[in-house]
Amino acid sequence: MEKREQLYEGKAKKVFATDDAELVIVSYKDDATAGDGAKKGTIRGKGVVNNRLSNALMQKLAAQGVPTHYVRELNDRETLVKKVEIVPLEVIVRNVAAGSFSKRLGVAEGTPLRCPTLEFSYKNDDLHDPLINHYHALAMGLATQEEIDTITAYAFKVNGLLREVMLEAGIRLIDFKLEFGRLPDGGIVLADEISPDTCRFWDAKTNAHLDKDLFRRDLGGEEDAYREVMRRLLG
Ligand code: TMP
Ligand code: ASP
Repeated sequence: MEKREQLYEGKAKKVFATDDAELVIVSYKDDATAGDGAKKGTIRGKGVVNNRLSNALMQKLAAQGVPTHYVRELNDRETLVKKVEIVPLEVIVRNVAAGSFSKRLGVAEGTPLRCPTLEFSYKNDDLHDPLINHYHALAMGLATQEEIDTITAYAFKVNGLLREVMLEAGIRLIDFKLEFGRLPDGGIVLADEISPDTCRFWDAKTNAHLDKDLFRRDLGGEEDAYREVMRRLLG
């Protein structure tokens, strides 16, 4: 596998071409942003944690029937993945009220929800990833009805599996964000990452934050928290 030119640089990752047109290399950075890049910083070691953790979780999900972009971990920060066209939706599943849900709806953070919820945001930095419903997604041509049905089913399935895996590690899965991609044959696969950047993880005993909220909210201790999540899940 030969690493070729950089195709893209995002806020937390870079993507490189390879000698295989259907595969790309994702390289995880330690850079952290919050509030659409209003706050910028570094979480030392984050790239390694997110790479290794996301790969381990995606392998577990794939084994349970959720197709993913994951192909092979190359090193601590780099992974070979299938090249996809990202569906421009942030798919957010919640088990417990927190973050924007709590703010928008006036439900105290930490309130358990009666059933898991799912929401879509339009992935567009200039518009600050606005909340939309599935009719908006259809009307704008962001995804087809069939794709939305597939994405919804996968997202709830990921929730069930991920909750269980995290709880075994003494971690409550409060909420998380997924992104999906289209393969050349039109198939939908889970893409992007599953990490403390994209999930709210609370310690099952103390409810301490073990995720990027420590950085977003200037609480501190994010480097230790990321390491702790990796230690609990990967040993
Ligand atoms: P929210 O409560 O701020 O809407 O966040 C919901 C979940 O989505 C939370 O687990 C953090 C994750 N998230 C991202 O992965 N990227 C983002 O840009 C935002 C705003 C949230
Ligand atoms: N999406 C946010 C940003 O771009 C980061 C976050 O809150 O996770 O700054």
